[in-house]
Amino acid sequence: MNGDARKALRRFIRSRWEDRDATLFLTNRKTAPANRPIQSGPVVPPARRGEAFTGFQSSVPVAPRQWNPSTAVPMAASPRSVPYTANPAPPPAGPRPAVARHKSGIIEPEASAKGREMLKHWEEIRNCQLCPLGKTRNCFVYGMGRADTKLVFIGEAPGQQEDMQGLPFVGASGKMLDGILAGLNMTRDSYFICNVLKCRPPENRNPQPDEIEKCAPHLEKQMKILAPKYVVALGTFAAQSVLKTIKPIGQLRGRWHQLPDYEVLPVYHPSAACRSGANKKVLEEDLLFLKKRLEAEKSKSPA
Ligand code: URA
Repeated sequence: MNGDARKALRRFIRSRWEDRDATLFLTNRKTAPANRPIQSGPVVPPARRGEAFTGFQSSVPVAPRQWNPSTAVPMAASPRSVPYTANPAPPPAGPRPAVARHKSGIIEPEASAKGREMLKHWEEIRNCQLCPLGKTRNCFVYGMGRADTKLVFIGEAPGQQEDMQGLPFVGASGKMLDGILAGLNMTRDSYFICNVLKCRPPENRNPQPDEIEKCAPHLEKQMKILAPKYVVALGTFAAQSVLKTIKPIGQLRGRWHQLPDYEVLPVYHPSAACRSGANKKVLEEDLLFLKKRLEAEKSKSPA
């Protein structure tokens, strides 16, 4: 494809608000450093990360809603969720008990050695100024969930809501993810979720290579403490950063990649699922694939 045709195709894709991953696919690999994720350019749909849906450009400011585990957990299972029937567990009677979440995002950190170590790590890095995002962020977003878990989800970077609340995936993408996982009986207190970047890039622009590089030790330390068995990489940046590849998410998703310390399942980013029903269906199928793997392991070695 020559340069003009490439540009025209890019314009077309962007004008249709297509999945950002499609534009990544078109990036010139020859000029991309081999060990870094490709940047897809500055044009990114504004609904990509973390914004609350405020209707059609109302001029009335909308107050941010706080994420509340006891109300968020039973929230709308996706109507398109793939029904999951293996070992159906009876739904818990009555409202779920509220879990004690520390302001770092860690649930009941004092309850385990890993939790205490995570808390110490959070204290060490919560005022990080290693890259310029330290100056522009509102909140540092460490992560959320239990430290004592086999399963970790990794996203890209905080969006607007996350930056306001200091918690990952509490905006539109998070609601999409929570909805699909609720359909599979998985809730935030059964895994840990965090991002490649701990601070919001201004205007939700793509993470830059130097930001990813500066932030990488934080994620590496988290993974060292958590020592998960399974990692779900949400979207291009997470998948490319964790797997150290420049392959597009379309080629990586839907199968397990074995790393020395854990297995990685790349899936579409929930924001892609917010934009297209087809993407949502693929994400649902991939998360069902994850759930079946967890169930298979549980039946081999029940806790
Ligand atoms: N998208 C991400 O990748 N991370 C968040 O925390 C929110 C939206």
